[in-house]
Amino acid sequence: MTTYAVTAASGHLGRLAVEALLARGAAPADVVAIVRTPAKVADLADRGVVVRAGDYSDPASLPAALAGVDRLLLVSGSEVGQRVAQHANVVEAARAAGVQRLVYTSLLRASTSGSPLAPEHAATEEVLAASGLTTVVLRNSWYFENYTGRLAEYTGSGAVLGATGGGKVSAATRADYAEAAAVALLSEDGTSRTYELAGPAFDFDELAATITEVTGTTVVSRDLPGEEYEQTLRGFGLDAGTAAFVAGLDASIARGDLLTDSDDLAGLLGRPATTLREAVRAAHEAARPAA
Ligand SMILES: NC(=O)c1ccc[n+]([C@@H]2O[C@H](COP(=O)([O-])OP(=O)(O)OC[C@H]3O[C@@H](n4cnc5c(N)ncnc54)[C@H](OP(=O)(O)O)[C@@H]3O)[C@@H](O)[C@H]2O)c1
Repeated sequence: MTTYAVTAASGHLGRLAVEALLARGAAPADVVAIVRTPAKVADLADRGVVVRAGDYSDPASLPAALAGVDRLLLVSGSEVGQRVAQHANVVEAARAAGVQRLVYTSLLRASTSGSPLAPEHAATEEVLAASGLTTVVLRNSWYFENYTGRLAEYTGSGAVLGATGGGKVSAATRADYAEAAAVALLSEDGTSRTYELAGPAFDFDELAATITEVTGTTVVSRDLPGEEYEQTLRGFGLDAGTAAFVAGLDASIARGDLLTDSDDLAGLLGRPATTLREAVRAAHEAARPAA
């Protein structure tokens, strides 16, 4: 019997990874959902998944969370600036608990990327490499949901605002990344690996055209110079630091940091990754009032 654990199982990706493990045949009793707040995943406990408390910032919480775990999915944390220390806590606890394989959700080309998000992922990968653990690094590119989650905003304003300079971004649904993570956990290949994961690439003109086609509401892409975009975001109420950070992410796209032709994701899934059109259509359908 192999015991699989998923951290951040209360978040979007972690929850989908638990679902993907179950869908691919793992028994609920062999799946451990590690969360800060067990009540958030009471539905998983009801289905027989083992729920344990664990906080990346609280090393004392981690030995009990990881006891008996053979293979662990460490979903990268969401508290930017604290993540290297947090992830190092989990890696150390996993090593001490005898975890045989640690799967980590990193960022596309983390070790060389100019993305403002890359340094924490690169540093975590270094911690993993030094740990002696067998590691599978899933270098996830952008989520489609970063955009499809804003459909109402785009159709309401008629515009996709950005400062990507026509740059392309390779993306995939959270569900596809989660399924790839489940495959990496379930695989009998016990070697350390790094995958560059993404689906199809698109630019913001294609994004706007796809939204127009799917929703029937005309949406255009409006590309702004970086500073103007930052000022526009401040006008929407973002504080200076957040506006600069968000504009920095688009500058990173403009440089090609989130563009890849890797087919690692389709390879892990054993099928083509979800397309932009499919992702937009699913988000549009989900947002429609029930008939
Ligand atoms: N590729 C992309 O486009 C993209 C976009 C956004 C984020 N990400 C990265 O991917 C990760 C997963 O994405 P997501 O959409 O699932 O994010 P999410 O829905 O915001 O979930 C974040 C999860 O991290 C957990 N968490 C945060 N701090 C923690 C800590 N100290 N100890 C234990 N758990 C902690 C949260 O737990 P609580 O429920 O207790 O808050 C939550 O379960 C993010 O955390 C981030 O690193 C990637």
